[in-house]
Amino acid sequence: MEGHKEPLWLKVEGSHCSLSEMDDFDLTRALEKPRQLKIERKRSFDERSMSELSTGYARQDSILEMAHSPGSRSMVDTPLSVRNSFEPHPMVAEAWEALRRSMVFFRGQPVGTIAAYDHASEEVLNYDQVFVRDFVPSALAFLMNGEPDIVKNFLLKTLQLQGWEKRVDRFKLGEGVMPASFKVLHDPVRKTDTIVADFGESAIGRVAPVDSGFWWIILLRAYTKSTGDLTLSETPECQRGMRLILSLCLSEGFDTFPTLLCADGCSMVDRRMGVYGYPIEIQALFFMALRCALSMLKPDEEGREFIERIVKRLHALSFHMRSYFWLDFQQLNDIYRYKTEEYSHTAVNKFNVMPDSIPDWVFDFMPLRGGYFVGNVSPARMDFRWFSLGNCVSILSSLATPDQSMAIMDLLEHRWEELVGEMPLKICYPCIESHEWRIVTGCDPKNTRWSYHNGGSWPVLLWTLTAACIKTGRPQIARRAIDLIESRLHRDCWPEYYDGKQGRYVGKQARKYQTWSIAGYLVAKMMLEDPSHIGMISLEEDKQMKPVIKRSASWTC
Ligand code: GLC
Repeated sequence: MEGHKEPLWLKVEGSHCSLSEMDDFDLTRALEKPRQLKIERKRSFDERSMSELSTGYARQDSILEMAHSPGSRSMVDTPLSVRNSFEPHPMVAEAWEALRRSMVFFRGQPVGTIAAYDHASEEVLNYDQVFVRDFVPSALAFLMNGEPDIVKNFLLKTLQLQGWEKRVDRFKLGEGVMPASFKVLHDPVRKTDTIVADFGESAIGRVAPVDSGFWWIILLRAYTKSTGDLTLSETPECQRGMRLILSLCLSEGFDTFPTLLCADGCSMVDRRMGVYGYPIEIQALFFMALRCALSMLKPDEEGREFIERIVKRLHALSFHMRSYFWLDFQQLNDIYRYKTEEYSHTAVNKFNVMPDSIPDWVFDFMPLRGGYFVGNVSPARMDFRWFSLGNCVSILSSLATPDQSMAIMDLLEHRWEELVGEMPLKICYPCIESHEWRIVTGCDPKNTRWSYHNGGSWPVLLWTLTAACIKTGRPQIARRAIDLIESRLHRDCWPEYYDGKQGRYVGKQARKYQTWSIAGYLVAKMMLEDPSHIGMISLEEDKQMKPVIKRSASWTC
């Protein structure tokens, strides 16, 4: 710490109008129902430009007005979203009640929400635990409602857990690994609370959650941005926690790509689903976490080196993703005509992808206008599947260029039947079946075609979709998705996922009262009512980072 002196890079710049602030204004105008909007200027801190940092001129960050007055907490029982809506949907109040029921307390303090509050289910498994990824929409709902304490407690509690020694059998895990989930054990006799955590050593498949650390950093920024409370992220503990996570993914090895190599099952898709390698979900979260960390790391003795490494990685990662993961009509046509077995720097088909490996469905699926980041790219392998979370996070983090973001939304509109159907939103498209299912999933009966992680529809994804819609100025798409959710979710008791090609059936093994289905709905509603909320989960494009992708059919048509 530098005593009480305010670090240079955090000084207030009163007259400065941040990019995100200007953007909020445009978003508001883009919406059709202005009378429902509660326009508040959020206290925020800007993201430092990567290029500025790389040249050593860190811009002084600006702090805008406070998001929530301290007094707002006295009204916690009536959610702001209910009070401010013009005509609140009856589901909103029910959802708040259900969300509050799922809260978990440690020594009297709220520290998270359990994954599902489903008493009817025979098997609890680990659904009575607080999952890091599942808590994100809950946290955003609480932040948007002016209740940051549970989020702060969660961030501190998980930070403490990160400090535990983690082992799988005789193998010691990296220091920075964050838990997938934790559980509070109450002893009614001794009146004590203890915590057990799972870092992958109990998880099905024994995979460490790569996404947890990234979500933790993203949430720390959301908390800071929403409350204007810089003191949490500035603590030596939080700074160290970030550095530990970063050293896990910025370490040098045998990599030839800036993307992060992962095992199957290390994120939301936590079972074998052929997402090993360089899955889009992890790459997008990695990019977003790097940018969030960049805005919070102090350039002190320990932080400076990380800042430099992040800046370099971001440049390489965005180039790689925008060039090699991007697929649109033109790009597909180019791959279709690829030569193979090229050697040397002049190779066009750098990863030696065989055109014969392009699945038939993608030729019909690809519209003339539109595009997306494919599921995975590695030597001789392109997974052409569309994954919703990775694509939405690419928009939110500005990993996607503005043109690419528009193209992702164009594709969603064109392929609404396939990607949304009757229940937003497919986790991936299409499903895998028959022989491929046997080989890729290892005959997983939970991941049969159009079910669960294999083309199932997950209501939680509504919030990422809504955020992406608002960021790209297309709130009407989000409204359409919310209408679908409102026609069913409550009646079906907030299931975890839906099955079928259209997402028409409540999932075979879906839990009811799944917390992130509930919280995801609330977050989507609140963001649509007050689009300025999106600032806590979205990062503006770094204007200095030149887009590398060549223009192609999806944005010239
Ligand atoms: C399932 C999901 C995972 C989620 C967990 C708790 O395992 O695949 O993404 O975190 O349930 O809801």
